[in-house]
Amino acid sequence: FQTNGKRIRPALLLLCSKLLGYKGKEHILMSTLVEAIHTASLIHDDIIDNSKIRRGKESIHARWGPNITVLLGDYLYIKALGLSLQSKHRQIIQILTSISARMVEGELTEYYLSGNLELAEKDYLDIINKKTASLFSASCRIGGILGKASKKEENYLAEYGANLGMSFQIIDDLLDFTGDEKTLGKPILCDLSEGRITLPLIYTLNNDGRENKKRVIELLKQKNQDRESLEEILKIVKSNGALDYTHKKAEEFSHKSREIISQFPKSAQQEALSLLSEFILKR
Ligand code: FPP
Ligand code: MG
Repeated sequence: FQTNGKRIRPALLLLCSKLLGYKGKEHILMSTLVEAIHTASLIHDDIIDNSKIRRGKESIHARWGPNITVLLGDYLYIKALGLSLQSKHRQIIQILTSISARMVEGELTEYYLSGNLELAEKDYLDIINKKTASLFSASCRIGGILGKASKKEENYLAEYGANLGMSFQIIDDLLDFTGDEKTLGKPILCDLSEGRITLPLIYTLNNDGRENKKRVIELLKQKNQDRESLEEILKIVKSNGALDYTHKKAEEFSHKSREIISQFPKSAQQEALSLLSEFILKR
């Protein structure tokens, strides 16, 4: 089981600061803060998504119930923001608060649109941009700010992070159809049963033949789908090229991120960031 989390966001912050030759110590604390904000958001997300398992273990929500879980997420979140005030850079707290608001907007929009079978690809991309790519992007931007990046370099790093985050979330959503529960540390076909319409399903609803599309809609409209209905949807999604299409989309974002990072001079950090773009596709 994957029990520790991948710690991608702090790794991004550390690498981006070092990419620009940062020599101070602030990057250590700041990298823990982006991970804490991420963790707080997952603690809350498991209430919203009613997820019982996280990282191979009982989720906090399943163990303690919603009341304690909300408070624990709030506590971790507010501690992280408080600690960010220790930075010399006022901008950092501004970035962290504004992207947190964007993450909430993303979650709210996703929740509001759940079960909406007319969800368009661009709405889906907008949701994942807000809920996931924004923190990836902020982690890179903060690394850049610590490393005294020029405005242009800072924006490049933010753009790199945003594309990487898009790719990451598309793969995450793909793994809900194709993943292995042991490696993921969470069960699959959860998005479907929670009414979350992600890219493989959007593709299916827009590109499959009428019969399959009708059947998928029928199955999705059932209350409390059983395992059999979910497996039937999975079979249709697997048969029409939706998974390939989704993987290609993730590749597009990953390639964009590599392209951006290749503009920076060669260094160990630049190479690591470039490899990360590849690794994101290979989960
Ligand atoms: C996981 O998505 C959730 C997120 C990436 C963002 C969650 C954001 C919030 C709850 C709002 C912001 C809160 C704070 C404290 C800043 P997922 O459900 O697709 O992934 P999963 O399958 O791993 O649960
Ligand atoms: Mg979730």
